[in-house]
Amino acid sequence: MRAIDYAEIAPLLLEWYAVSKRDLPWRENQDPYRIWLSEIMLQQTRVEAVKEYYTRFLHALPTVSSLADAPEEVLLKLWEGLGYYSRVRNMQKAAVTVMNEYGGHLPADHDALLKLSGIGPYTAAAIASIAFDIPKAAVDGNVLRIYTRLGANGKDIADPAFKKEVAQALDAVIPKDAPGAFNQAMMDLGATVCLPNGAPLCTSCPLSHLCLACHDGTQTSYPVKSKSKARTIEKMTVFLIRHDDTIILRKRSEKGLLAGMYEPLHAPGWMDEDEALTFIKELNLDPLHIERIEDAKHIFTHKEWHMIAYEVKVGFPAPEKAHHLIYATPGQISSTYPLPSAFAAYRARMGMRRRNTKNN
Ligand code: ADE
Repeated sequence: MRAIDYAEIAPLLLEWYAVSKRDLPWRENQDPYRIWLSEIMLQQTRVEAVKEYYTRFLHALPTVSSLADAPEEVLLKLWEGLGYYSRVRNMQKAAVTVMNEYGGHLPADHDALLKLSGIGPYTAAAIASIAFDIPKAAVDGNVLRIYTRLGANGKDIADPAFKKEVAQALDAVIPKDAPGAFNQAMMDLGATVCLPNGAPLCTSCPLSHLCLACHDGTQTSYPVKSKSKARTIEKMTVFLIRHDDTIILRKRSEKGLLAGMYEPLHAPGWMDEDEALTFIKELNLDPLHIERIEDAKHIFTHKEWHMIAYEVKVGFPAPEKAHHLIYATPGQISSTYPLPSAFAAYRARMGMRRRNTKNN
């Protein structure tokens, strides 16, 4: 049977990385807090989208201690638009642990990192190797793609047992004197050369002469991944309700999807204009004018929101406490209230700058 010797890839990768590495803000030094923040942001967000958030976050909260003490609204506002907000909540929880149990310094220990809130096997290995030179392979989708193409390996990458097998195989060959560079070289190779779908740039690849898929011309057959469940679709009606120069918002529950964020009112299902007016009146609001505005769609990991929307001007306001409503000016929405990207299509109507966001 043909097989590749994965031990051969390390020196080739390191040589390639020395000249091709991407210049990224979290590669300026090995400060563990900076590395940690970058890995959390990069868990579900692309490098280009992370850069701006990363710099702003570090400026606002430059230390573990400042993160541990930050108010929820400040945290969520710094994360607004990045999505998957539990990432920053978990990171704060971990920061409190680091303050209480490790004197404010992330532990230089892979297993101890793994126990911190929000740090899974990939992130623990990335932080351990990049910040502390600990030889642990970080295995994500990019690395699985490179690995399976190199070995023309048709195993299912959605199978956790296979992921473990790959981590063990790479742990055995990761160079002890440059584990951070090895992991980041894999990340960069996956992001810039061994691209997904139909587009690998094999002529620029330092490993192409070892790669069985490249030899066979079957690069696009790998990786093999079993299908995940289809997302559920939730129809909803969104209400941009204006009273004087304010928009009515509501705070989401402290648990579950988009916990603790602020949002325009909405209701399940697609309402026609009469149903929408009834909904508004039931909140003790006094609709003066209603207009259908643009539809929007937002895709989460496991569900999709398909939204229709109305802009409604109301006269006398409801007693705020009765419905936990907040009358926010555009300035307050921009500066204080974290708004999920799911409502990004309506940002301009709420007096906020538009942002380019995707999938969160
Ligand atoms: N993706 C995840 N971690 C990364 C890192 N440190 N550099 C570039 N891309 C990454």
